[in-house]
Amino acid sequence: MTIGAVQPVPTVSWDGDAVVLIDQRLLPGRTVFLRCRTVARLADAIASLAVRGAPAIGIAAGYGAVLAALEAPRGRGFRTAVSAGLDLLARTRPTAVNLFHAIGVQRGILESCRSRDQAVEALLSSARRMHEEDLEASRKIGRLGAGLLPEGARVLTHCNAGGLATGGLGTALAVLFEAHSRGRLEKVFADETRPLLQGSRLTAWELSRAGIPVTVLPDSAAASLLRSGAVDAVVTGADRIARNGDVANKIGTYPLALAAAEAGVPFYIAAPVSTFDYGCPDGDSIPIEMRSGDELRKLGGRILAPSRAEVHNPAFDVTPARLVSAVILETGVAFPPLPRSLSKLTAQSVGATICRL
Ligand code: MRU
Repeated sequence: MTIGAVQPVPTVSWDGDAVVLIDQRLLPGRTVFLRCRTVARLADAIASLAVRGAPAIGIAAGYGAVLAALEAPRGRGFRTAVSAGLDLLARTRPTAVNLFHAIGVQRGILESCRSRDQAVEALLSSARRMHEEDLEASRKIGRLGAGLLPEGARVLTHCNAGGLATGGLGTALAVLFEAHSRGRLEKVFADETRPLLQGSRLTAWELSRAGIPVTVLPDSAAASLLRSGAVDAVVTGADRIARNGDVANKIGTYPLALAAAEAGVPFYIAAPVSTFDYGCPDGDSIPIEMRSGDELRKLGGRILAPSRAEVHNPAFDVTPARLVSAVILETGVAFPPLPRSLSKLTAQSVGATICRL
């Protein structure tokens, strides 16, 4: 399944007895595949961002449940062991709700199985279904979102919400791939996305691979670029959308939304329904992951800050609903007032997700 001429990225796949990941820590320099045959290895890959992006983490955890079932002893204790594996995956990253959504689905399947063999088979087909549904959601998001952009659109995006962050096609980037294939996209500006550079390393890689002109900029240049009139729309992904329409996404998204509002540029969020969390009333209830200070103290082998300096390194921030022009879901485009439009378009997931561990 493609969007325009874009082939899905082999972000996550199942291969016999392993979850296979493209190691995103090494891109764009090297394309290396990581074979995870244990839940512990997969949990480490998620925590260290070998696989990242809300939908991709969810899909990886879906397959991770199969690893947990293969590793668990047969007979008594089987369910407890699989459940412990799922707990380990749930402790990797707290913000992206897709992870908890996928784990919740797999727990339900586990409960309904009577043998190890049955569980392995049922968990694998459930993980494959999640993966296929995500690809289908990307295609629909791309189609709906492309219709919001003007002819010859110049679009700014943040972090990476492409095939690498999903089942292989993307959310924000699915919109851009589709707009490109319709001949409506002039160029993309990609924030580099400090400190882990998902924008310059991953988004620019995906866009270049698709033949889309891309300009990388430091995050701090986005506000003045917006003010200059060089951007027609901002499109980003999301890690969790609360019931009132507040959106958690990569750190730096909130200032981007403020700058877009100031410049009068529409600010769109593209996300699958699995990113919506009916259990979270608002952005203040979304757990924000804090990451190691070393991500700012060091870059490659270079020291960037003294080891004694304290570091504030949240991985995500929350953009209030009032700054969001629309949320592009696979079920439709939610315009303000978001609480009402989102509740209509995400009805199928009501009650299916959780707010925290
Ligand atoms: O820390 P990351 O790289 O997992 O953060 C990813 C993002 O913030 C993405 O924008 C989000 O997950 C949406 S991906 C379709």
